[in-house]
Amino acid sequence: MMAVGRLTFSNITALAPMVRVGTLPMRLLALDYGADVVYCEELIDIKMAQCQRVLNEVLETVDFVAPDDRVMFRTCERERDRVVFQMGTADPDRALTVAQLVEKDVAAIDVNMGCPKEYSTKILKKLVTGVSIPVTCKIRILPTMEETVNLVQKIEKTGVAAIAVHGRFKEERPRHPVHCDYIQAVAQAVSIPVIANGGSSDLVKTNADIDEFRKLTGASSVMLARAAMWNASIFSKQELLPVEKVMEEYLKYAIRYDNNAFNTKYCLCQMLRDKVESPLGKQVQAAQTNAEISEAYGLQEFYQHTQEQQQAKRDSLQTSSQP
Ligand code: FNR
Repeated sequence: MMAVGRLTFSNITALAPMVRVGTLPMRLLALDYGADVVYCEELIDIKMAQCQRVLNEVLETVDFVAPDDRVMFRTCERERDRVVFQMGTADPDRALTVAQLVEKDVAAIDVNMGCPKEYSTKILKKLVTGVSIPVTCKIRILPTMEETVNLVQKIEKTGVAAIAVHGRFKEERPRHPVHCDYIQAVAQAVSIPVIANGGSSDLVKTNADIDEFRKLTGASSVMLARAAMWNASIFSKQELLPVEKVMEEYLKYAIRYDNNAFNTKYCLCQMLRDKVESPLGKQVQAAQTNAEISEAYGLQEFYQHTQEQQQAKRDSLQTSSQP
């Protein structure tokens, strides 16, 4: 492991874990705009445990590849000290196996505890002692403040480096207002950094709102999901960029890192929001490959050029591997 400092979670802004959204292109985009920490999409321990770690010399990435050749997790040096690997798990031993599989390539391990169970703290303890990088967890709030505070105090005792708190009850929908008072109670009850989450639908619309949300919750840090998915430039201290520009930058990363085309499409459709039925939206929806998506954005040349560069790399790797 490189001799860099351990990732700390105080006073940071983070891209939240999001299934399908939090793949490599979105994470790099969020870092470009100023996010300090980026969480990957939740990856399930059972699937990850079957993966092989493969160095992809053409893309210059590290890939975790399933037996059916699907890339479950792709990462690269640029995010090495910033990326948090979020895991879905119900089993301490399997969780540790997966954490040890990825720990050289990520900055921290997070456990998704959306609905915390008795075994959850066991998993955290096992990970904290079993890996050399920070371990964190992400929870939703429990029905009463007392239960929530009891839970986070139990969690803190496991030795985790931080707790992300999505300030909604299990049965609440994303459009419900976030319970800042619960996050505040948590922030007061523990001494490790608390990462406030859940502000996207009403409170956080601009970069300046991030600090307001931090103050309102008394948390050390803020994590954004939907606000970042809709326009990742929210992490930038500059003005919010037009989403067209953000989609273009996203797509360049998707092409550069050979992102799964359906995943690329899904993310672009999330960014298009109510424009998903516009002519551009329809073209994106009809596209089947990254090449076709590139055409919709006038990025054919970038696509072509990237393909040629990658082919040249492949050829030179083949030549150099011959005796
Ligand atoms: C999520 N969320 C989520 N949470 C998590 O712990 N692991 C995950 O993989 C996902 N996946 C996911 C996908 C998508 C598309 C969305 C919109 C949300 C929940 C997310 O991290 C966050 O807790 C909530 O969205 C609340 O934060 P915002 O959106 O108000 O900033």
